[in-house]
Amino acid sequence: MLQKPRGTRDFLPDEMEPRRMVEGKLREVARCWGYREVCTPEFEDLELFTQRSGEGIIGEMYVFEDKGGRKLALRPEITAAVIRMYINEAKVAPKPLRWCYFADCFRYERPQKGRYRQFWQFGVELIGADTAIADAEVVMLAADMLNATGVTYDLNVGHLSFMKCLLSSLEPAAQRRVMAHLDKKDFAGLEVTLSQMGKPELSQSLTDLIGCRTLTDAFEIVGTIPEKERIAQTLGILDASGIQYSLNFGIARGLDYYTGIVFEGFARNLGAENQIIGGGAYRLAYLFGGDDVASCGFAIGFDRVMVSLGDVRHKKDTVVAVACTSDGRRRALDVARALREAGIRTEMDLMERSLGAQLAHASKSADFAVVIGQREAESGNVTLKNLHTAEQKTIDLAAAIAEVNAHGAR
Ligand code: HAM
Repeated sequence: MLQKPRGTRDFLPDEMEPRRMVEGKLREVARCWGYREVCTPEFEDLELFTQRSGEGIIGEMYVFEDKGGRKLALRPEITAAVIRMYINEAKVAPKPLRWCYFADCFRYERPQKGRYRQFWQFGVELIGADTAIADAEVVMLAADMLNATGVTYDLNVGHLSFMKCLLSSLEPAAQRRVMAHLDKKDFAGLEVTLSQMGKPELSQSLTDLIGCRTLTDAFEIVGTIPEKERIAQTLGILDASGIQYSLNFGIARGLDYYTGIVFEGFARNLGAENQIIGGGAYRLAYLFGGDDVASCGFAIGFDRVMVSLGDVRHKKDTVVAVACTSDGRRRALDVARALREAGIRTEMDLMERSLGAQLAHASKSADFAVVIGQREAESGNVTLKNLHTAEQKTIDLAAAIAEVNAHGAR
């Protein structure tokens, strides 16, 4: 028997319905903040992702050559693609642009619970606003979205300028190597790398920085940095908004394009794969042939949110089964259409079962049966049977629709 590829999942209707419900909550928050949906291709030129995605992600990409010999990659994330689209399609649009997306990404990782080779991100990108309040808006939106799903999480906020200040004596490539260790919390590897670079003393100051829990402590380690005022302003807005977060100056992020504020969120009830959101301020457009526009965004790991939520209770559709005799079929088709036009989920027998067998099947899958025999076909009424209580009455169609709708509203 053929199986799905490793690291991918099938979703049955019972899984898709809660997924769509949670997705709907995220969409609604994005809409309320003015973030409008965009969509980019599932695959892009490989080069789009090799410029700044970071070694980790480059090593995990699904890369292939098409029949025209072009080197392509399944998108491992969406940010680079959105910025490519911004340059292609919307460079001159009034700023800021508030965009969001819900899309699947592909990373060749070792699969486990919460870590898949195909997974979905709900993300936002705020393009063209380079201010403290823009950074704060993105973090507040992240918190609003996560809160809307009902997940319980811890949000950590940091800023790369502290770490970059400590690492300023290193070449950019060396800085990236150090930050990759920090992102993986690989402190042993970090020490070895710093020794090889002839900078063992940096290990202690990085450890001190990571231990800081207040802005004052962090400034004591790095001294005054140009971003000081902006960082204080952003955090001031976050504090006034009442969102819950902790400062963490050790956030390095696994992607290489971040330049300023960075943040990550962790679901409290998940184990190893508990990071449910990552984001920050970045500059990518100039690398793709555009202006040096400032952007800030995040992506929520939708599958991890679903794992964290567990069994999501969602409102189930009221289901009506239209059961009929052969004399009643023509009228039954009309009744089914009227029920559907009233927005009611309506199913008819397709198996040529007897009326009794139709009702027996309906009792397993529906809330009501609407029975159309010869009598109902002639009178224009319907027999409505509540399959939970076995209560049954013959009424006109409008009254039956009203009763089914009343059940759905409960
Ligand atoms: P990221 O941290 O690489 O950031 O991914 C965002 C989220 O996607 C992670 O926090 C995690 O929840 C989820 N995720 C990552 N890999 C997997 C996987 N293999 N299986 C399941 N979930 C996964 C980005 O992708 C950036 N583009 C975020 C961003 C947007 N930054 C600015 N704008």
